[in-house]
Amino acid sequence: MHAIWFLAFLPVFLIVLYIKPSPKKSIKGKHVVIIGGSSGIGRSTARVAAKTGAHVTIMARNKDKLEETKKYLNSQLRSNEQIITTVSVDVSNYEDLEKCLNDVELEIGPIYMLINCAGLAICGNVEDFSLQQIKQLVDINFLGSLYSVKAVVPKFKERQEGIIVLTGSQVSLMGMFGYSVYSSTKFALRGLAESLYMEVKPYNISVTLALPPDTDTPGFENENKTKPLETKLISEVGGLVDPDVVAERLMQDALTGKFFSYVGMESFILTTLCTGMSPFKRIIDVLVESALLGLLRIISAFYITSFESIIKKCKSEKEASNKEKSN
Ligand SMILES: NC(=O)c1ccc[n+]([C@@H]2O[C@H](COP(=O)([O-])OP(=O)(O)OC[C@H]3O[C@@H](n4cnc5c(N)ncnc54)[C@H](OP(=O)(O)O)[C@@H]3O)[C@@H](O)[C@H]2O)c1
Ligand SMILES: *[C@@H]1O[C@H](CO)[C@@H](O)[C@H](O)[C@H]1NC(C)=O
Ligand SMILES: *[C@@H]1O[C@H](CO)[C@@H](O)[C@H](O)[C@H]1NC(C)=O
Repeated sequence: MHAIWFLAFLPVFLIVLYIKPSPKKSIKGKHVVIIGGSSGIGRSTARVAAKTGAHVTIMARNKDKLEETKKYLNSQLRSNEQIITTVSVDVSNYEDLEKCLNDVELEIGPIYMLINCAGLAICGNVEDFSLQQIKQLVDINFLGSLYSVKAVVPKFKERQEGIIVLTGSQVSLMGMFGYSVYSSTKFALRGLAESLYMEVKPYNISVTLALPPDTDTPGFENENKTKPLETKLISEVGGLVDPDVVAERLMQDALTGKFFSYVGMESFILTTLCTGMSPFKRIIDVLVESALLGLLRIISAFYITSFESIIKKCKSEKEASNKEKSN
């Protein structure tokens, strides 16, 4: 009899355990640095930090965009004691970046949270990239993230606290037509984030890797201009997410110490499918993931097949139109 009751309540118990909120750290009155904070996802994240009562430093290259965002953030403050600071720096220059991070600590106070959103996407067939474009993507997306981590980790370790957020993408977990270069830089961030997680966990420092879907930002608008037809056709089903939604989620996940931060059902499926050896916070999440993995792999086969058929169709259409032209 007891066994039956137990079995009946087990699913309810597991669901309660699954949706139970995790304890959340607070950034009120703390110093939050957002690299790439003058536009798109970084700007929205800076807004969340400002609304929550943090001292916010935004870093990026363009001074006008920084000033404009500072004005915007000043209109979002929770108390008049908060300080908003702007720093113009190129994240791909290690010496400059390290100096700026040191200077702003002296000015505002110890950095409690570092969020790196600086990045860009260029799409295209691998052979069409100039060497300069390849270098730019590696320098900003990968090296910039690594540099920011290298510069703050010693301070965080010494203080035995801190939160680090890196911004990957859905193509940190899967390859996609047109993203050979971009996706490589974003896969690299997963290796960086997973290794770093292990190194800094004993020092009470957390690492979160954000995996935004297509998000409505100036960066996305630029990326859109370089997308091959195949990439457009494959990714158009997803739609565009508001950067404020991505930013709220990112902050929530980082403050509860979740490793992956993502938005929406498709990203949940992809992240679950690609969990691999990634770190976990709760056993219940591991149970849910392992229950879903087998089925999700089968579903993925349908997606992959449909992507491949889109690509094949584009190739035949291109060849037919080329033939017509040459006739
Ligand atoms: N939007 C999407 O659909 C999407 C999806 C997945 C992942 N992501 C990732 O999310 C991040 C933000 O994307 P977004 O769409 O919000 O881009 P965005 O609107 O173009 O904003 C990028 C920010 O990074 C700064 N930045 C760029 N290069 C820099 C450099 N070398 N040094 C310092 N700052 C630099 C930019 O300012 P300056 O140009 O003035 O330096 C700007 O503040 C990127 O890593 C992107 O790959 C975006
Ligand atoms: C870990 O860091 C949090 C703030 O992020 C702090 O409140 C807590 O006291 C720290 N714990 C230890 C053991 O240092
Ligand atoms: C992306 O480009 C296509 C044209 O190639 C256009 O129809 C679409 O509106 C663009 N989307 C965004 C968000 O800029």
